[in-house]
Amino acid sequence: MNLPFTLDADTVWYAIGDGSLDKSAHKLDDYPRIIILVDENTHHHCLPVLHKLVPGLENCDVILVSSGEKNKNIAQSSYIWNELTRLKAGRDHLLLNLGGGVITDSGGFAAATFKRGMRFLNIPTTLLGMVDAAIGGKTGVDFHDFKNQVGLFVDPVGVIIEPLFLKTLDQLQWQSGFSEVLKYALIMDKDLWGKVQGKHFSEIEDWGTIITKASRDKIDIVRFDAAERGVRKNLNFGHTVGHALESYFLRTHNETTHGMAIAAGMICEAWISAKIFEFDAAHLVEIVTMIDKNFERFTFDESKIPLIIELMHQDKKMRGNKLLFSLLRRLGKATHDVEVSPHLIEDSLRYYFKGEV
Ligand SMILES: NC(=O)c1ccc[n+]([C@@H]2O[C@H](COP(=O)([O-])OP(=O)(O)OC[C@H]3O[C@@H](n4cnc5c(N)ncnc54)[C@H](O)[C@@H]3O)[C@@H](O)[C@H]2O)c1
Ligand SMILES: [Zn+2]
Repeated sequence: MNLPFTLDADTVWYAIGDGSLDKSAHKLDDYPRIIILVDENTHHHCLPVLHKLVPGLENCDVILVSSGEKNKNIAQSSYIWNELTRLKAGRDHLLLNLGGGVITDSGGFAAATFKRGMRFLNIPTTLLGMVDAAIGGKTGVDFHDFKNQVGLFVDPVGVIIEPLFLKTLDQLQWQSGFSEVLKYALIMDKDLWGKVQGKHFSEIEDWGTIITKASRDKIDIVRFDAAERGVRKNLNFGHTVGHALESYFLRTHNETTHGMAIAAGMICEAWISAKIFEFDAAHLVEIVTMIDKNFERFTFDESKIPLIIELMHQDKKMRGNKLLFSLLRRLGKATHDVEVSPHLIEDSLRYYFKGEV
């Protein structure tokens, strides 16, 4: 992959691109001890790569947890706290999260709450982690199957985006990460849209440029609005409906990916956007066609709508009893805190299930 290396020194440092692990490894010398968190897949595929590139990490203790969204819960946090206690981890030690969004979300949460705050470093190993989850300091776990119900904003010390890790990622996970790439294109980056539009994710050759642009989009937004008081909310486009669908699938024990749920959420929320902001019907067709080209639709029927709406009411974007959405004003421009009536939300789900209302 051709992804030129850059290293930004800021409150949070970001090393991005080919060789970033090698070139930023000296930053790990700041910590007296490093403990590595992995799931069974990153243990198998990514830990050997990490050891090869940074041999000094070979003797570090490793905490191994089970992979998957169904394990991103407080029981897993408790297990990590137990392990940190058993290993006599201290506040001045560093937890190195090596994995996808589940590992960086739950590892960040466990570290930030252990002894009132142990530092952590994110090394994302999925496309989704590289362009989104590892960046921006949102940490947490699901609770009673509600997405990210417990957690806190706390930054990692740094993020290393080393594309070498993607070599072992399967197609389902590439697809999942691609949904967040589409999100940046739709909410803020028409240039990125131009690079991906009309393509199936498997046809993309220049992932280096795509990852650089998408991760930079996220970094720019979180630097500007870390606490999510304004523009950062735009990143939630597709996520109000999407998170409700993810919660629904957690309950029904149907495996899905975060990206598939968000892709469905983006179809519904693009439809709501077009209704509210009356944007050109051709743009809605362009957006939906692109998502459909990359993601199969879930099959649903009318009977599931009430539960999905109920799950939406656990959304963190609620104000009082009202659901607030981040929507598209047009392709490439988003806005936030838009109140949407329950009827319109239901109709957007019908549009998704039936292709019409
Ligand atoms: N904190 C945030 O701002 C933020 C943003 C977006 C998403 N998220 C969260 O991120 C999670 C989704 O992240 P994800 O899609 O990375 O999920 P994930 O961490 O579950 O990873 C997906 C799968 O890929 C495996 N895997 C990881 N790296 C691999 C590699 N290099 N080779 C082979 N297999 C590998 C994992 O073991 C897992 O089975 C969700 O929980 C979502 O809520 C958080
Ligand atoms: Zn997301």
